[in-house]
Amino acid sequence: MTMSDSRVSFVKQPRPINRRIFLHASAMYGVGLVAGSLKGYSAQSAAVQRKIKVGVVGCGSVSRCYLPHLRACTFVELTSTCDIIPERARSQAKKFGVPHHYPHIDQMLAGASFDLLVNLTDMQEHERLNRRAIEAGKHIWSEKPIANSLTAGQELLARARQKGVRLWGAPTVVQSPQFAFMAKTLAADSLGRLAGAHASYGHLGPNWAEFFYTEGGGSLPDLGVYNLTFLTGLLGPARSVTAMTGTVIPTRQIHGKGEVTVTAEDNAMVLLDHGNSVFSHIECGFNYFNPEDHAYTGQNHHTLTITGRNGVMKLAGYDWGPHAVDLSTAQEPTFQRHADAKHNYVWECGASLCAECLVTGKEPLFTPEHALHVVEIITAARASQSTGRHIPLKSTFKWPVVV
Ligand SMILES: NC(=O)c1ccc[n+]([C@@H]2O[C@H](COP(=O)([O-])OP(=O)(O)OC[C@H]3O[C@@H](n4cnc5c(N)ncnc54)[C@H](O)[C@@H]3O)[C@@H](O)[C@H]2O)c1
Repeated sequence: MTMSDSRVSFVKQPRPINRRIFLHASAMYGVGLVAGSLKGYSAQSAAVQRKIKVGVVGCGSVSRCYLPHLRACTFVELTSTCDIIPERARSQAKKFGVPHHYPHIDQMLAGASFDLLVNLTDMQEHERLNRRAIEAGKHIWSEKPIANSLTAGQELLARARQKGVRLWGAPTVVQSPQFAFMAKTLAADSLGRLAGAHASYGHLGPNWAEFFYTEGGGSLPDLGVYNLTFLTGLLGPARSVTAMTGTVIPTRQIHGKGEVTVTAEDNAMVLLDHGNSVFSHIECGFNYFNPEDHAYTGQNHHTLTITGRNGVMKLAGYDWGPHAVDLSTAQEPTFQRHADAKHNYVWECGASLCAECLVTGKEPLFTPEHALHVVEIITAARASQSTGRHIPLKSTFKWPVVV
């Protein structure tokens, strides 16, 4: 089975999201921006003394976005790739000029020395592999989630601190200029007394891996995680969660596997209480028809709204690929477009920013505490569904994110 074979989409109409559709769109957008985003890095390259040696574990779909970004980053030296499907590790190493490739994390950790592990494996594997790598003294950038529960994530973070290494996790949505504009608009009180927010993200679901649909996967950690991070980043840590989660389609066709039983939610509605009677609502799922088929470069509709007594602002595009912010206030009721200049933000920037931080000390805006707050929201949403109750939250993070 070749990698290109695995891009086949099984269902004709409506189409699930396959790797070719999603990654083509991402790559067209991302690669153009990588060049732009790394111009600053190139200008500094003469002054850069140190590079962070990076090992990438998980050489599937998302590695095709990360590896070009990492290769273009002057703070990074790509050292090794690893995948339990050894052909994937080998072919990505060859394509991106990475000198070493391994079929198992133990061999990678015992092999060529590196500083930062970039974990792009199945969602269920992150916590275990992150723990292994922390014990081996590696810094971590992990795709979401960092861990499967708040407690496990807090233990990982404490252990990382004991070992003198850093732990960060996706998503990176708070890094975008649109997030900064919205945060500053709220800080300036331009919307007046806040009331509510709404955000939505969905598509028809991946067809290339089973893990999206089984325990530890689901639409909340794969999709809802973006809106949850963006909205808590803007409105502050949530105090409690009320949610409904469910399964719309009980089985899915997965390439190379056939029919699999869905045991994680593919549909979720989550209400957050941010305190002071400010509420937000996010919806996500693997059953959302999208006429643009996830090709977000041309997509411009609003996916997120924040409303107050004096104004309303709406994010154009997804929070992981935003285009602009439309703002209407009592003083200027006609919607005005802001933060629509060409920008360098791409969602796959996280590992490169971690490498930059390790070299220069410049801290990214995303933090592990924020990522773990979102992990707690996700597990609380499921607890709310199973108990029919509001679930209070314990965790918090440094806020405001943008000062
Ligand atoms: N694909 C996307 O568009 C996308 C976008 C953003 C984030 N993500 C996130 O990235 C992660 C990976 O998603 P994906 O779509 O690339 O999945 P994928 O199935 O295409 O790739 C995962 C890879 O990890 C490998 N793997 C699994 N367990 C391993 C282990 N123990 N050791 C080494 N390799 C192992 C698998 O063999 C596979 O090649 C998930 O957390 C997902 O939520 C994916």
